[in-house]
Amino acid sequence: MELVSASLLLLLCLCCILLASAWQSRGQRGQLPPGPTPLPVLGNFLQLDRANVIHTLVKLYNSFPGILKKIPGPHHMGSKYAKQIISFISERIKMQQATLDLNAPQNFIDCFLVKMEQEKQNPATEFSQENLVMATFNLFFAGTETVSTTLRYGFLLLLKHPRVQEKIHREIDAVIGRDRAPTAEDRGRMPYTDATLHEIQRFSDILPMSLPHTVTRDTRFRGYLIPQGTYVCPLLSTVHFDPEEHQSPEAFAPERFLSENGSFKKQNAFLPFSAGKRVCLGEGLARMELFLFFTTVLQRFALSSPVDPQRLSLVPDVSNFGKVPPRYQLCLRQR
Ligand code: HEM
Repeated sequence: MELVSASLLLLLCLCCILLASAWQSRGQRGQLPPGPTPLPVLGNFLQLDRANVIHTLVKLYNSFPGILKKIPGPHHMGSKYAKQIISFISERIKMQQATLDLNAPQNFIDCFLVKMEQEKQNPATEFSQENLVMATFNLFFAGTETVSTTLRYGFLLLLKHPRVQEKIHREIDAVIGRDRAPTAEDRGRMPYTDATLHEIQRFSDILPMSLPHTVTRDTRFRGYLIPQGTYVCPLLSTVHFDPEEHQSPEAFAPERFLSENGSFKKQNAFLPFSAGKRVCLGEGLARMELFLFFTTVLQRFALSSPVDPQRLSLVPDVSNFGKVPPRYQLCLRQR
């Protein structure tokens, strides 16, 4: 019996070594996508970054929540903060419930509460207290962090590329001037600024794995069978950094979104909001917010870096489920 167990153990070790060498021959560490590799569990564990264990754990947590949920560690911090936001939202809902005027809803929560009241006799209604909390949480979370992270990356890129900033200043002065606030309609007349915002979104690639999805039925894709229920992450990075679609994809170049005559040029390989049925529902709002925040700041201020722009790093501080720019200092000089 002992001989059988020892042989099994030996066989298991041999399998691990074979799998590890197969993995190594298929790709170098760091060049693999941030999600499951061709050898799911082992492949991910081999991407362990000992210098940054927290980030590695978060990465693994996103790929294998079922397993990592059971293991204690700093990767649980995210859900702790999420619970705090959820309890804040629940309190806010209670406050609004107390003062709700069914005939004059003031905001999203009020409108949802009105629907809850109208559908209270319907046992199959989606307008429940729990869905209200989670819908508000999703809007909060999805709608704030994304826009602010893109702007932070954008301003860093302008510090690194002062010429791009100069061109935007010139376009703002020519189209909007200094006497009125920018409006969403200005965008169509500002191709260089529009191109720069697109390039900021492509380059910053803040949600490299989009959001996780589950396959709803057995699906054949490029000769592979993806069984129903499989957890899949579309890798948007592979679109944004595809060398067949973008020349020198690692370079920051707003011109790639401009045609020869200087008008805005659409690129197919541009999916920061993902694609398909579950495409970001805040895309229109996000694009408008980015344009208005960006042009309002640049209309009033010239941005500069207290350190030599050559020394500014663009390498993200965090790169797993989301990509976060490194910390930097920003000087704002009134124009
Ligand atoms: C730069 C800003 C933004 C980026 C890059 C972004 C990107 C994304 C991406 C990649 C997804 C996943 C889509 C998928 O599952 O395939 C998503 C989903 C979502 N986004 Fe955004 N987003 C941004 C801003 C916003 C804003 C401003 C809101 C709303 C106020 C918002 C609300 C949502 C919601 C609710 C979902 C989930 C949609 C669903 O699952 O049906 N997002 N976003």
